[in-house]
Amino acid sequence: MELSPFMKELGLKYPIFQGGMAWVADGKLAAAVSNAGGLGIIGSGNAPGSVVADEIESAKSLTKKPFGVNVMLLSPYADEVVKVILANKDSVAVVTTGAGNPAKYIEKLKDAGIKVIPVVGSVALARMMERVGVDAVVAEGMESGGHIGKLTTMALVPQVVDAVKIPVIAAGGIGDGRGMAAAFMLGAEGVQMGTRFLVATESKIHPNYKKAVLRAKDASTLVTGEYAGHPSRVLKNKMAKTYIGIEKEEALKPHPDYDKLEELGTGSLRRAVIEGDSETGSFMAGEIAGMVKKEQPAAEILAEVYSQADKLLNGER
Ligand SMILES: Cc1cc2nc3c(=O)[nH]c(=O)nc-3n(C[C@H](O)[C@H](O)[C@H](O)COP(=O)(O)O)c2cc1C
Repeated sequence: MELSPFMKELGLKYPIFQGGMAWVADGKLAAAVSNAGGLGIIGSGNAPGSVVADEIESAKSLTKKPFGVNVMLLSPYADEVVKVILANKDSVAVVTTGAGNPAKYIEKLKDAGIKVIPVVGSVALARMMERVGVDAVVAEGMESGGHIGKLTTMALVPQVVDAVKIPVIAAGGIGDGRGMAAAFMLGAEGVQMGTRFLVATESKIHPNYKKAVLRAKDASTLVTGEYAGHPSRVLKNKMAKTYIGIEKEEALKPHPDYDKLEELGTGSLRRAVIEGDSETGSFMAGEIAGMVKKEQPAAEILAEVYSQADKLLNGER
């Protein structure tokens, strides 16, 4: 498979990004992916700048390869995280953004030589991002783990590819080389995977969370927050069922009150990742969790996915 000029410019061996997952994707996971030839991305989530600075230091100590940082635009710390990234412009090659419009940061990041790649869930947002000058977009379908949009990867990716001239990276529901090859057939020039990397050997998530992903089947996820805002795909567990129960009950009321959901949801990803608590933790994962059957080093995941996709795209079975 010939790498696109954009992927070559990023210095990658494999056109595979590891999604910048909040709480999960630390400097160690990102460095492992980057060392192996993919693009490792640190997830900053709602973390303050100082925490992100520590993770960048950790990645810098473990790899000389390019890596990225994901900025969650809804975070109250987004401004200070961007400052930390700018202070580390020599090592942070890429910024991906989630949950919003990164327009106000684009000029500074680009002036610093950092590529800006927002995650989009619609053609309209992809077009808007192209207009404000981003370098590429990640088109993410609702099969993915974490916060999701409304369209599927299969429908979204080719429509985004047709709508913009900048490179498109496909995400959502890509778990092996078949998914990667399919994304390339849809016009993507790279893929981003999150769920498969949850169980990488270098991923720090609690063993209970890893076990839950490894045991998942095709229908093991559900979407919380469909009524209350910020839909999110998680593995079915007690927490998810309680959340959805309250959400549906409130939605039927003339004046729904979603405040108690705010309480329930706050810190729930941390409780999953750090404590492995399935009673109160949100085990975010995508629909392909049912295909993820073993814990492997990140390098092995990348090589396996890439070589399978490469064969398929060369017409081999
Ligand atoms: C636990 C978890 C946390 C995530 N957190 C973020 C985040 O903070 N910002 C973001 O842009 N995407 C986030 N994502 C999405 C991933 O970066 C990636 O795009 C997605 O997982 C791809 O779909 P897949 O899960 O089907 O591989 C998260 C995904 C998971 C599973």
